[in-house]
Amino acid sequence: MDQERLLRELSEFLRIPSVSTLPAHNQDCRAAAEWVAAELRRLGCRDVEFLGSDTHPVVSGKGPDVPGAPTLIIYGHYDVQPPDPLAEWTNPPFEPTIRDGKIYGRGAADDKGQVFCLLKAIAASPRPPINFRFLIEGEEEYGSKVLFDLLKREPQRVRADAVLVADMSYVAPAWPAVYTTLRGLCYAEITVRTSKTDLHSGEYGGAAPNAHEELGRLLTRLKGEDGKINIPGFYAPVKRPSKAELAAWKKLPFTEKDFLQKRVQGKALVGLKQYSVLERLWALPTFEIHGILGGFTGEGAKTVIPAEATAKVSMRLVPNQKLATVERQLAAAVQRFAPKYVTATVRFLHGADPAQIKVDHPAFKLLGEAFKEVTGRASVPARAGGSIPVVPALASAGAPVILTGIGLPDDRLHAPNEKLDLKQLWDGIEVFRRFYNLLGGAGRM
Ligand code: BES
Ligand code: MN
Ligand code: MN
Repeated sequence: MDQERLLRELSEFLRIPSVSTLPAHNQDCRAAAEWVAAELRRLGCRDVEFLGSDTHPVVSGKGPDVPGAPTLIIYGHYDVQPPDPLAEWTNPPFEPTIRDGKIYGRGAADDKGQVFCLLKAIAASPRPPINFRFLIEGEEEYGSKVLFDLLKREPQRVRADAVLVADMSYVAPAWPAVYTTLRGLCYAEITVRTSKTDLHSGEYGGAAPNAHEELGRLLTRLKGEDGKINIPGFYAPVKRPSKAELAAWKKLPFTEKDFLQKRVQGKALVGLKQYSVLERLWALPTFEIHGILGGFTGEGAKTVIPAEATAKVSMRLVPNQKLATVERQLAAAVQRFAPKYVTATVRFLHGADPAQIKVDHPAFKLLGEAFKEVTGRASVPARAGGSIPVVPALASAGAPVILTGIGLPDDRLHAPNEKLDLKQLWDGIEVFRRFYNLLGGAGRM
């Protein structure tokens, strides 16, 4: 492998600020799509197209025909999350930098670095051993609407022997994983309005309602101090993992103490204390406040009673919960918990159903072998706390969806100083190269 050339090419990809949620970056998303398309052409793909052209396109393509060999769909995303807070990056987010055997930059691990791995693993064999199909999208970080609509119109696009998604990480260094569940997501804005306009806090304070105060109270009614979410009906479909699964998690190299000290780097963990931390992260739903807008947040002081306040919130959903049901439950709970004298509204931004994947198809075994050959350990089944909205749709034609990844748990996805260890990158290319070859050797599945 010409590592220097590969790092130059990856840096080129990471340099494109393809933030899908910010309209100011629409051109950059297009540039990242062009970068992917050029790579696909270099791999000898036919029919390289941009699909769903209204917004950030899905880049699709077909690898050279390999008669009799299985077909593998490669899914990934070229969009990234916003890089703020900028001041906390040691190097600017879109000026990829190599330091201490790691490449730093927004998208290094999520998901550009991993898409890069999947593609370079193809180039690493003299000729492709299997039939490749590509669906590399640019809206994953914003709910994947384009790809959803596309797959609804054209469900045959997910017909294949397997789908490979590398958008997760190892469970710990030297512990590669395949994931059996992803949590779903319900993202909403809750707005509370208390009066027609803002009011002088001296003239009105003490008698007029305050939108921020009302919103604060509403939010604490939705989720209590004990970590319990009090939305009626919310937990009803939630099932506990089996005894066998809980026992398997105990064997993973995970301790709550390390998680607190090395990963969270806070002073205490919170949440439903009667469940283990892994169960809270992987098998229970959440309610998080992402940000609160409204009132005076500028420099200095202004004495005002805000008339309106908005919270951006999201809930992670676990298997058996349904996005559509949770949306209704949240909307009803907000009306129920808001006092009569405020106007409370809920606007849903995007969401995803949870995903559940059986990992008994022979392809999982082959991936395990590839990991074992390269890292010394086969991939272990685990669950993921994050979401990839389109996964249930990728599974809809019956192909097994292999959820894996080559990053590490401390890659700081969505946060400042996101990174990918170069060892993970080189190993990852080798793992996928071997996996493709093993699949090719296995014939049609
Ligand atoms: N790659 C992540 C999903 C992920 C992260 C899965 C860690 C498992 C472990 C993905 O890019 C992501 O961030 N998804 C969003 C989806 C949302 C914006 C609809 C998420 O989970 O917040
Ligand atoms: Mn991702
Ligand atoms: Mn992400």
